[in-house]
Amino acid sequence: MKKFAVIGSPISHSLSPQIHSLFAEQADIQISYEAIEIIENDFDSKVKQLFEDGYSGLNVTLPLKEKAFHYADKKSDCALLAESVNTLFLDDSRVCGETTDGQGLLLDLESKGIELEGSNVLILGAGGSARSVIPSLLSCNINSLSIANRTPEKAAELVNIHKQNNPEINQIEIDEKIDTEIDLVVNSTSAGTLGEEMTMPEGIFGLKTKSYDLSYSKDETPFNMIAKRSGITEAYDGLGMLVNQAALSFEIWHNFKPDVDGIELQLRT
Ligand code: ATR
Repeated sequence: MKKFAVIGSPISHSLSPQIHSLFAEQADIQISYEAIEIIENDFDSKVKQLFEDGYSGLNVTLPLKEKAFHYADKKSDCALLAESVNTLFLDDSRVCGETTDGQGLLLDLESKGIELEGSNVLILGAGGSARSVIPSLLSCNINSLSIANRTPEKAAELVNIHKQNNPEINQIEIDEKIDTEIDLVVNSTSAGTLGEEMTMPEGIFGLKTKSYDLSYSKDETPFNMIAKRSGITEAYDGLGMLVNQAALSFEIWHNFKPDVDGIELQLRT
């Protein structure tokens, strides 16, 4: 039986084992898929050991996606742009790295009827999560992509990486007042997960703004609670993105495209 795992820290609450076993049922294949706790300092030795022990593929979650990017011998174009890897597998004993986060987000937005072309998108946060989804968002012919971060230098760095090929990217100060209508606000900060308050630019929630929190929880995320209190009616968390990025990883490993319909709902109940 082929062996797979998701690695990260903390990892015990990961839904990836459940998602991949649902996909394996659809594909009618037998796999094992575990959640394995690995801390950043142990990444190289532990991952080397897992592949030596016969694991065929690994999903990588927080805080290890940048480590995985540097570890992979061969990186996809998408991973190179995002400087992030969430899927590792072997090809002729070389470790290949791919990121499916950005495409997972796009697929989920599409399934929720959120049209990106021509829209104004604002990302809150400029850490690894923002970095990993920005190239995909920029591939959608959006009108503008603004980044606001508590530490402005990090937002400026992300803007600099992409500005030359994507002039629609720009930075907004965290204490700025916004006067353009934002179509989609994406929260990529870890404030909610850390249980911290977060500041955000004034005026980001307009009449037609939708909100998408990259993190997810059984209950409404703290960010989506703020969005709803500000009048937002369409607020989504990142569970749909998680399902879609998992489906894309599954397809890479098993050459089978899982049907994601209904999986998000099933995980919520
Ligand atoms: P991840 O991989 O989840 O993106 P990260 O790389 O540590 O994690 O980035 C976390 C992001 O959340 C950063 O943009 C961080 O802002 P700073 O760059 O200023 O540290 C943001 N963040 C974390 N806690 C926050 C808070 N309480 N308010 C606002 N932003 C916060």
